[in-house]
Amino acid sequence: MSRPASEASASPRVQAPFGRRALEVTRNLASDGYRIFSALDGDGPAPEAGQFYMLAAESGWGGADGRPYLPRAFSVADCEHEAGGVRLDFLAQDVGPGTARLCALEPGERLWVHGPLGRPFSAPAELNPGAPGAILVGGGIGVAPLALMRRRLLAKGVPARVLLGFRDRANSGGLELFDCSEIRLASEDGHRGHRGYVTDLLSVLLEGDDAAGAAVHTCGPPAMLEAVRAMCAAAGVPCELAMETPMACGFGACFGCAVPRANSNGRHKDRGRTYMRLCVDGPVVRGDEIETALVAGSGHA
Ligand SMILES: Cc1cc2nc3c(=O)[nH]c(=O)nc-3n(C[C@H](O)[C@H](O)[C@H](O)COP(=O)(O)OP(=O)(O)OC[C@H]3O[C@@H](n4cnc5c(N)ncnc54)[C@H](O)[C@@H]3O)c2cc1C
Ligand code: FES
Repeated sequence: MSRPASEASASPRVQAPFGRRALEVTRNLASDGYRIFSALDGDGPAPEAGQFYMLAAESGWGGADGRPYLPRAFSVADCEHEAGGVRLDFLAQDVGPGTARLCALEPGERLWVHGPLGRPFSAPAELNPGAPGAILVGGGIGVAPLALMRRRLLAKGVPARVLLGFRDRANSGGLELFDCSEIRLASEDGHRGHRGYVTDLLSVLLEGDDAAGAAVHTCGPPAMLEAVRAMCAAAGVPCELAMETPMACGFGACFGCAVPRANSNGRHKDRGRTYMRLCVDGPVVRGDEIETALVAGSGHA
């Protein structure tokens, strides 16, 4: 029996230290069309999978036109204890001025971080008691938080089936963060794996005999998230979605990331509606907590 929608995730969130801190960038590598950059966090705790950081470059932030101004939200894609602190890895796609500057960071430069923030993924057995393992479904840059999720499950001996989909080679990357050969891939242009959507791969798993005992954790563009949410609802399989709605503050102050909760009905448009702020009540939410994953401006195309 899965937990009711109103019940918060049982996974403890790691609390961010107060204020932002400047970290040294230690590497920046190409990964197909994306970049993987890392920073050493001497003071911060190790994050949980699904949590995120608000990032800004120390220099070159705010050009002649003032952009980028606010920090940008990034899921942590991997982390490792190293001499001097915790190495944080981020997977980035250049889609605008903020991500362009972050993708261009060079080793030795400094990066402002605030985090870890937000609600992490639950363990599969918290999402669906009795689930023997997890199905991880990632699309595009949304594969980032699933890399750390898989690593954490692996460390606990929890099996995970990984399904990743990309639009084309230019909009792909991050596979090295998964460090395993059991990934099933899909691409819309057929450059790797199944030609088509990652949801084609998921539908095969959900039709299997053991689907009822599954727990699905997903991150990707809104259309993919909504398809996964609807497929899991139809199959009676609990799922969690990491939502990437644009965020201005990242810690609950601005309400810029609010989305309607499920079952918040009202005869008039907004009467009776209740909302959640995805930066504090998410970014990871259960599929049955929201009305739809099709949130304007959230997630990459
Ligand atoms: C919790 C969370 C985790 C995220 N994790 C990652 C990550 O691991 N790697 C990564 O590359 N990006 C991630 N994003 C998205 C990233 O924050 C945005 O791409 C970034 O803020 C865009 O800033 P910009 O200045 O480059 O572009 P902007 O000028 O702000 O936007 C450029 C284009 O991107 C679109 N856009 C704006 N915000 C978003 C958004 N949140 N997602 C997708 N498209 C957007 C705009 O509509 C516009 O077309 C995450 C977002 C959230 C909320
Ligand atoms: S981003 Fe400001 S409240 Fe969520």
